[in-house]
Amino acid sequence: MSRLALIALSALALLGCATADTARLTTSEKRGLTFAQAHCAQCHGVMRGTASPNPESPAFEAIANQPELTRETLATFLRDSHNFPAAMNFSVSAADVDDLTAYLLNLRKPGYKPAI
Ligand code: HEC
Repeated sequence: MSRLALIALSALALLGCATADTARLTTSEKRGLTFAQAHCAQCHGVMRGTASPNPESPAFEAIANQPELTRETLATFLRDSHNFPAAMNFSVSAADVDDLTAYLLNLRKPGYKPAI
């Protein structure tokens, strides 16, 4: 098989996974994903099972499954994330924080019992 065909096939496979995984998201979670793809994906692995392009940034799935993380600690972190870490020097609107929090929490593994 040609290299090009292989690349096209893997792109299709990736697309297939992404579609299956995002189809069941709520409207808010979908908005969070879109926002994350635009503003976070250059550093963080945003989709389930995606490694971070910037190895210093934990993948969203890893962040979401931290046992001590709750909706409240995550939302507080995102609201206050003006310059900590320095790489994340941005502010996120309250509505976007809600959507991002919803999206991130959807990455918690089934069967895992969150403390919220
Ligand atoms: C320029 C790179 C960069 C961008 C863009 C970025 N981050 Fe980060 N983020 C980091 C790094 C690096 C860390 C790890 C900091 C540490 O461990 O001290 C981090 C940490 C985090 C954490 C905390 C993880 C934990 O251990 O609790 C969250 C939550 C987070 N980022 C969310 C986001 C969201 C949401 C966006 C998009 C709105 C975003 N980040 C955009 C680099 C980035």
